[in-house]
Amino acid sequence: MIFFWKDPVYLRIRKRIHGWIHPYRSLIIGGILMAFISGGVSSGVPILLKELIDKVFAKKDPQLLFVLPLSFFVLFSVKGFTGFFQAYLLKKAALFMISDVRQSLFEHLIRMPLASFGKEGTGHLMSRVTNDTYILQGGVAEIIRDLLRNSFTAVGMLVALLYIDYKLTIFVLLAVPLTLIPIRKIGKKLRMVSRRTQESYGDVNQHLSETLSAIRLIKSVASEEKEIRQFREFSQAYAKSQFRSAKYENLLSPIMESIGALGIGLAVWLGGYSVIHGHLTLGTLVGFLTAAQMLYQPIKGLANSQAGIQQSLAAAERIAEVLERPLEEMNVARSGWTVSRLEKSLEFRNVSFRYPVSSSITLENISLSIPSGDFVAIVGPSGSGKSTLVNLIPLFYHPTEGEILWDGKNLQDADIRSLRNAIGMVTQDVILMNQSVRENLLYGLDRPVSRLELEEATKVANAFGFISSLPDGFETRVGEKGVFLSGGERQRLALARVVLRDPTLLILDEATSALDTESEYAIQKALEVIMKNRTTIVIAHRLSTIRTARKVYVLDKGKIVEEGSHEELMRTDGGRYQKFLNLSLGLAPDPGENSPKRSE
Ligand SMILES: Nc1ncnc2c1ncn2[C@@H]1O[C@H](COP(=O)(O)OP(=O)(O)O)[C@@H](O)[C@H]1O
Ligand SMILES: [Mg+2]
Repeated sequence: MIFFWKDPVYLRIRKRIHGWIHPYRSLIIGGILMAFISGGVSSGVPILLKELIDKVFAKKDPQLLFVLPLSFFVLFSVKGFTGFFQAYLLKKAALFMISDVRQSLFEHLIRMPLASFGKEGTGHLMSRVTNDTYILQGGVAEIIRDLLRNSFTAVGMLVALLYIDYKLTIFVLLAVPLTLIPIRKIGKKLRMVSRRTQESYGDVNQHLSETLSAIRLIKSVASEEKEIRQFREFSQAYAKSQFRSAKYENLLSPIMESIGALGIGLAVWLGGYSVIHGHLTLGTLVGFLTAAQMLYQPIKGLANSQAGIQQSLAAAERIAEVLERPLEEMNVARSGWTVSRLEKSLEFRNVSFRYPVSSSITLENISLSIPSGDFVAIVGPSGSGKSTLVNLIPLFYHPTEGEILWDGKNLQDADIRSLRNAIGMVTQDVILMNQSVRENLLYGLDRPVSRLELEEATKVANAFGFISSLPDGFETRVGEKGVFLSGGERQRLALARVVLRDPTLLILDEATSALDTESEYAIQKALEVIMKNRTTIVIAHRLSTIRTARKVYVLDKGKIVEEGSHEELMRTDGGRYQKFLNLSLGLAPDPGENSPKRSE
């Protein structure tokens, strides 16, 4: 609708839109003022024309013959330049306003809890930050400009028409209400199509980002053709959507033109009749028809800005949807208790957990207590919930039931930033930034680190050797996600990162799985140093690691089924622990299990 302020979507996100506009209100008001002048001045044109014909030619007034052309020049200059300033001011407001929107989108995305990612792809989220803001920006600048200029011009022309001949004006206006019907109908269609188009672009973007990040997999199974076909489908669907949008967009023009011609036709017929019978001067008729013609121009423009309005509303709605999603609690002004060194124990008390998307329960009634400084291992078949269990500690996910106590205090009310600073986590797939080794090691640290300390840390993690042999040493870039390094090298960098962060709680989730026996031995030595004076939880399959743990928890289908030291558990004949060891170490193949576990 032209009357977008009555639109339910607009009404719903009005507050947010006003918040976006507020800092730029003076620019926008300046733009409106310019539009007002530009539109007002336009209405002088038909009036001048009427005077020119009636007074100059009919009455042969030489003085006016000089004044009138000069007035034309002045009028058009003022109209042109105010038009320029209007565009200039509004464009500036739109560009910087949308930059703000883009920033708050990014800020919001990055502060959302881990649990809100993964359902809808990265590419879809990216398209909201890039494409939707782009559409909104184009819309805001152009719509406000056209909407204002056309509205003011239309009003100006109306005044001119009434001034020239109010009776004829009524005839021309008879056609105007007719135009509202197609504008309304097509406007509604346009928004639906626009939304679909933007979602469609999200699909294109999603496919692109997904395939590019999975390029190794695609190459290794030679599925290029399939991905190309799939992309073609998304791309075609996007084009179809855009095309449908363009169809409705352009359909308005001929409809408006026909209706406009109808109004003008009426005026010609009636006005011409009056001129012939001497009730009307020729100048009046020419001036009038010019004004009528100039009135339909902006009305047509108003109809055309429908497309922009609808696209922008759809984009604003999609942006608002992201901004409405809940943030991770540390960033909502909520000050919890600060997590410091673990002094007594970390305790799980009757913790159960279910992933929001999952129908079955992942962890069931977990109770365990880890004294500070202790070293425990968690073992169990893959999918038994080991990673999920340790991911609850930094509150990546919140327990569905029960509580996790840090020195007796519920983590639920902890300040998440301090909690995460207290924990060092090394997982199977180490994520590195496409920066230098040094930058990766220091990432997230907010204290100065000397060269010596950096080297010491990498020596502890057994990474110094390979870093030194890289072409630029510590300054070598590691490639996207660290692709220039081997899995073992990435893991040793992650360990060095942990050494630098000096966390009180160390969590290793299959951290040495990507290592060969030789580097595993080196890492084992490194870990012994790193684990000193820390509480450590290790998820492992290797007997050498598990053996040194003071206590082992055996997890199966989300439940702790056995616990005790390695020796104690080995004494339980036919127990789950023994079965697990046999399976994972390949000591005795289990006939029921045909896929051998990776020997980690
Ligand atoms: N982000 C997630 N969303 C939904 N389900 C998940 C998610 N991560 C893991 N799961 C499910 O939870 C179960 C336990 O997974 P996980 O804790 O990774 O097991 P483990 O580390 O023992 O191999 C699995 O059945 C897995 O499918
Ligand atoms: Mg796991």
